[in-house]
Amino acid sequence: MSESPVDPRHHRDVVSFIRRGGRLTERQQHAWDDLAASYVLDVPRAVSSTSVDPDFRVDLAAVFGRQAPVVMEIGSGRGESLVHAAAEHPDIDFLGLEVYVPGVAQTLVTMRHENVTNVRLAVVDAVPALSTMLPAAGLEELRVWFPDPWHKKRHHKRRLVTDHFVPLAARVLRPGGVWRLATDWEDYAEQMREVLDRAEPFEFSGTWSERFSGRPITKFEAKGLAKGRTIRDLSAVRR
Ligand SMILES: C[S@@+](CC[C@H](N)C(=O)[O-])C[C@H]1O[C@@H](n2cnc3c(N)ncnc32)[C@H](O)[C@@H]1O
Repeated sequence: MSESPVDPRHHRDVVSFIRRGGRLTERQQHAWDDLAASYVLDVPRAVSSTSVDPDFRVDLAAVFGRQAPVVMEIGSGRGESLVHAAAEHPDIDFLGLEVYVPGVAQTLVTMRHENVTNVRLAVVDAVPALSTMLPAAGLEELRVWFPDPWHKKRHHKRRLVTDHFVPLAARVLRPGGVWRLATDWEDYAEQMREVLDRAEPFEFSGTWSERFSGRPITKFEAKGLAKGRTIRDLSAVRR
């Protein structure tokens, strides 16, 4: 593999997403104009618009304006799970990483609607973000809900959850912190199980978890269920 999981200074040929454009709706644009300065991190870039300057560090307490446990979701999409969780737990701070700008803007719409202020968002590729931008051992939980499944075998190298990603997840979680995952794609679920089984920095039961009760049924999960797919939840604890 030409990509490095720990040194984002190397050019990454393979990323886990396709950069989709998409215009913002009027509502999303208003939410962006009003709220982005307060809730979307201003990330200095290295090369592309989803990269991170490798010298940039985020101070989580400064970003949230308080000292509280931080739960992070990678690929927060339209923010359905993130805002739901933030509304249920005002004592916890929630950080969403998402490369799809209309998704981030929609999250701002929902935050405003739900009166939620304990969420911050970053338009950034999770790989460089976890490599350097985020503090080591700063997170209480890492959530990856329905990552892009990359169905075709020749695209499997694009999947986010691989052995290469383990050191990054391990880096940002505090000891005892939890990494939660869910997918509706059986073959990816099996891959996740194998990755966690081999993941030295994590304690893992070797099998599926109960469905995580803190996750609402998002559009994505509903689509999988409608197609008759089994939803698999997994969780592992940072040693
Ligand atoms: C299949 S969607 C699921 C969205 C959401 N988690 C849900 O359950 O509804 C996967 C999301 O992950 C985002 N994504 C993929 N790779 C990413 C990466 N490396 N960094 C940040 N976001 C990423 C995509 O843009 C997309 O919105």
